[in-house]
Amino acid sequence: MHRIRKAVLPVAGLGTRFLPATKAMPKEMLTVVDRPVIQHAVQEALASGIEQLIFVTGRGKTAIEDHFDHAFELEATLAARGKDDALQTVEATNFPPGTIAYVRQQEPLGLGHAVWCARKVIGDEPFAVLLPDDIILGSDPCLGQLLKVYEGLDSDGANLIGVEAIEPDMTRKFGILDIDHWHDDGTSFTARGIVEKPEPERAPSNMAVFGRYILDPSVLKHLDRQERGAGGEIQLTDAIDASIQEGVQTLGHLCEGQRFDCGSKEGFVLANVAYALQDSAIGPNLRPAIKALVEEKD
Ligand code: UTP
Repeated sequence: MHRIRKAVLPVAGLGTRFLPATKAMPKEMLTVVDRPVIQHAVQEALASGIEQLIFVTGRGKTAIEDHFDHAFELEATLAARGKDDALQTVEATNFPPGTIAYVRQQEPLGLGHAVWCARKVIGDEPFAVLLPDDIILGSDPCLGQLLKVYEGLDSDGANLIGVEAIEPDMTRKFGILDIDHWHDDGTSFTARGIVEKPEPERAPSNMAVFGRYILDPSVLKHLDRQERGAGGEIQLTDAIDASIQEGVQTLGHLCEGQRFDCGSKEGFVLANVAYALQDSAIGPNLRPAIKALVEEKD
């Protein structure tokens, strides 16, 4: 199998669910404890062995570019004051030149369109997609788990999609995979289709796509058609389905770890609580305080 070197991170969405917080700040810069949501996805990708990150940005997203750049004055001040730990923390958000490429999505026409905007940087090779809204708490980076499965496949081109089992009445919020058969390991299955946000009675399963994909470049060819799907948007799901119908092997895989949807208020608050509780500096004090808060409310 081709080695996966590139990952696309679409960050051009409007983030309307977090207004007014996202009026002048990208939603990807909202923080989970001490780092922006986007940094969790970036760290996951790099820890999984990805070499190049392609951000698909839009208007008002320059704070993301600044976050992953040198901050000369800050770094010099921290160095002069001997604040070595803080300096290291800041330096860890800066990568060798060329690690991050930025392309612009001029209009938010949907996730499929955002990925398509990166096509010239991706080229003709398989690639990963990470939706930064989803952050996954666990010991093994989620994308790395998918890459291990991908490397074990013997066919020459394939799509591999991170999935989770959801309550059947939640299907209208997700892309849902149609299962052909489960593999012996019980964590992967071959899909025969995928459908975006189906009504529960029309959903082919309860296996929902979350924000981690490894995609065959043929998906980009289907996105070239710019067809509108659910919600009038150009859907990545529809292009993946076209690639399945064309015969590209497509698997769903249940990853280990606890997923938080930081694109929703509930998921974002829960992520903050979960990450804070496992932080050795603040977790021990927070635990009884949160418990007391909850008991007071009950
Ligand atoms: P969402 O569906 O969460 O949309 O996008 P959104 O605009 O970011 O947020 P809300 O619903 O208005 O609160 C899922 C992912 O796809 C990206 C988003 O940045 C997010 O990572 N996206 C979506 C784009 O990059 N471009 C688009 O046109 C749509």
